[in-house]
Amino acid sequence: MKINNYIARRAYFSCGRELKNPLWSDEENRAVFGRDALPHGHDYTLDVFYSGEMNDYDGMIVNLSDIKPVLNRVLEPLDGAFLNLDLEHFQQVRPTLENLVNFIWQQLPKGLDQAELARVRLQESARLWIDKDEDSMRLTRCYEFAAAHRLHVPQMSDDDNSRLYGKCNNANGHGHNYGLEVTIEGEPDAQSGAIISLTQLDEIVDREVFERFDHKHLNNDCPEFEHLVPTSENLARVIFDVLSPKVNGGARLVKIGLHETTKNYFEVEAAC
Ligand code: NI
Repeated sequence: MKINNYIARRAYFSCGRELKNPLWSDEENRAVFGRDALPHGHDYTLDVFYSGEMNDYDGMIVNLSDIKPVLNRVLEPLDGAFLNLDLEHFQQVRPTLENLVNFIWQQLPKGLDQAELARVRLQESARLWIDKDEDSMRLTRCYEFAAAHRLHVPQMSDDDNSRLYGKCNNANGHGHNYGLEVTIEGEPDAQSGAIISLTQLDEIVDREVFERFDHKHLNNDCPEFEHLVPTSENLARVIFDVLSPKVNGGARLVKIGLHETTKNYFEVEAAC
């Protein structure tokens, strides 16, 4: 069995930007970038992972004291900057989260002592982040919706249903505020700098998920669950299946995460 060991260091930085393709009209920019077409700023959180073997002598993969100055050097020109104006790189490409994570990846040393750069996560907000490694880039966007359901198998007796599902079998149902994480894999488009337009992704989720399930009783209102028990396992799978064909143009839906409560989480991931 191959074992991978990782060490991660977190760093914070803030910068301003506007997302605007100079070849496009204001209307086209607003359609692709939404409010991000206007000047605005973010507090970013960066997690950098290095992998390697523990040194026999000191027990470390790489000394954190060696990672800190590297991160400081990479982030120093970004922190407090207005990306479009202050960095030459972002006068050529849009300062999207995708291009920003690529820029940071390029600046980070691929090898540090005996360790190798394994992956980075760059978080723009609690609701949007990108994971990047050597082979792929994955963007995750978070949403919320509310729905009621009753866990009940019609072929089983009421007593058996009650034993199987407990309180979740309540005859009139019960509700959850679901947290939904949608993960898209792809490469940033040369013109937009984005794997997928976030305004387009929001429209897809609005149409395919919210219109179907938000503020609905899944058993009573939704044909998807006429013959399917609306467990969160099944709900996550149905959401994956309705969203997947709508994500295209080089981007691919690879994962759905569904938080039923703060304690219960369900995930559907595309196999490679
Ligand atoms: Ni429930």
